[in-house]
Amino acid sequence: MRKKIEEEFSSLLPTLFDTDSNLRILDAGCGLGFLSYVCAITFPKSNVTGIDIFNSGSLSEASITKAAENMSLLGIGSRVHFAEHDLTTPIETEAKYDLVVSNLVFHNLGRSRFRGYEHVFNVLKRNGYFVIGDLFPHESSDSKYLTTWSSIVKEIQEEDSGRWRYKIKVLKKV
Ligand SMILES: C[S@@+](CC[C@H](N)C(=O)[O-])C[C@H]1O[C@@H](n2cnc3c(N)ncnc32)[C@H](O)[C@@H]1O
Repeated sequence: MRKKIEEEFSSLLPTLFDTDSNLRILDAGCGLGFLSYVCAITFPKSNVTGIDIFNSGSLSEASITKAAENMSLLGIGSRVHFAEHDLTTPIETEAKYDLVVSNLVFHNLGRSRFRGYEHVFNVLKRNGYFVIGDLFPHESSDSKYLTTWSSIVKEIQEEDSGRWRYKIKVLKKV
């Protein structure tokens, strides 16, 4: 499943921006930096910030130090940085992001995910993209909320991914 998600993001992201672009990218709920890595490799001139609470049971091995060590070992430590942050609280940033990515995070947040979505859109540039891979157990309410901030450019549905199918949504901020 993870390999498939990596492949999907790797083929999707270059359709949104030129791979030569110098982008500001945010990985919301980055864990050990899975998507941070995919973004940094796809856009070699870009900088990535990964944020996470770094103490969730769902990824017990995750720690900010481990995530940073991983990126150094992969040779992208200078372009990928991590910060501890709870997505249910506003995100502080010096400048807005061109692209926000997220994988398997927001469904964990219950109704607070709507606040999380709002915080993401508040730090995303107009016409920037939010690419979210997640399970959407209450999809109609999520879609309704997400389309108050963005237009849905593309949706990719994974087959065989359980009761609530894994989906990648490409959202463009309006
Ligand atoms: C299933 S893991 C996915 C990690 C990573 N995106 C990946 O694909 O490997 C879910 C992540 O969401 C993070 N998380 C859960 N609640 C969070 C919150 N309120 N704010 C930020 N991160 C959160 C967890 O710490 C965990 O790293």
